[in-house]
Amino acid sequence: MLNVATGAKWVLGNWKMNGRLASNQRLLEALLADPQVNAGHVGLAVPSAYLGQMTHLLAGQALRLGAQCVSHFADDGAYTGEVSAAMLADLGVAFTLVGHSERRQYFAESDDSLSAQIRHAYAQGIMPVVCVGEGLSARETGVQDAVVAGQIAGVAAALAGRDRVMLAYEPVWAIGTGLTASLGQIVAMHEKIRACLLEKLGSSCTISILYGGSVKADNASDILSLSEVDGVLVGGASLDAGQFKNVCYGAAK
Ligand code: 13P
Repeated sequence: MLNVATGAKWVLGNWKMNGRLASNQRLLEALLADPQVNAGHVGLAVPSAYLGQMTHLLAGQALRLGAQCVSHFADDGAYTGEVSAAMLADLGVAFTLVGHSERRQYFAESDDSLSAQIRHAYAQGIMPVVCVGEGLSARETGVQDAVVAGQIAGVAAALAGRDRVMLAYEPVWAIGTGLTASLGQIVAMHEKIRACLLEKLGSSCTISILYGGSVKADNASDILSLSEVDGVLVGGASLDAGQFKNVCYGAAK
């Protein structure tokens, strides 16, 4: 489970469908050599195919291992292609993304499926990082708050009663586009998400809200300096050791 006592902000990388054995090892070795990156508030969500490799390379290291998705089936069985939360736990996975916009878009993940994924992750001691965010047309028509509130409402029952929840706000129009939400847009949405979660989950729950969407070395420290932002979820820049290290330097302060 992800747990941090240092007060540092989260930096989670999402490799998406990228990597090979040799390049993964090179990238990881460069990151592990740096104590500001090889730290408990930093994690990497890698492709399922490489979780085993990462388990091996990360043994005894502080940097945390993450998955990009988890099956909505809990028990072993005839579910070809699926990877269960129990399997992720077996590999030492500390967190898993749930409901990334690319999963919602290409794999039609429903609220029921996402809720099951969240429950199975918690049951295995894996922190689900629930991704929400509006598309461009929702932003252009000003309905982004309603879209995100609807996504939260869809999984709220699975989050209820937890000590800790983690969400990532990733506006779809800012993912992989080089467009970043403005600091004002980030603050406004994070405040709304926090209020929405507090209302649904109560104040005893520790809530972490990450921002994702074209986070890079040159904008990370501004985003991470916002008190409403508890960390960042980094896509493309997590594939480059220099970029990712610089993002981490903004979080360690
Ligand atoms: P980029 O940082 O490449 O925009 O991706 C963001 C993302 O989707 C992280 O999950």
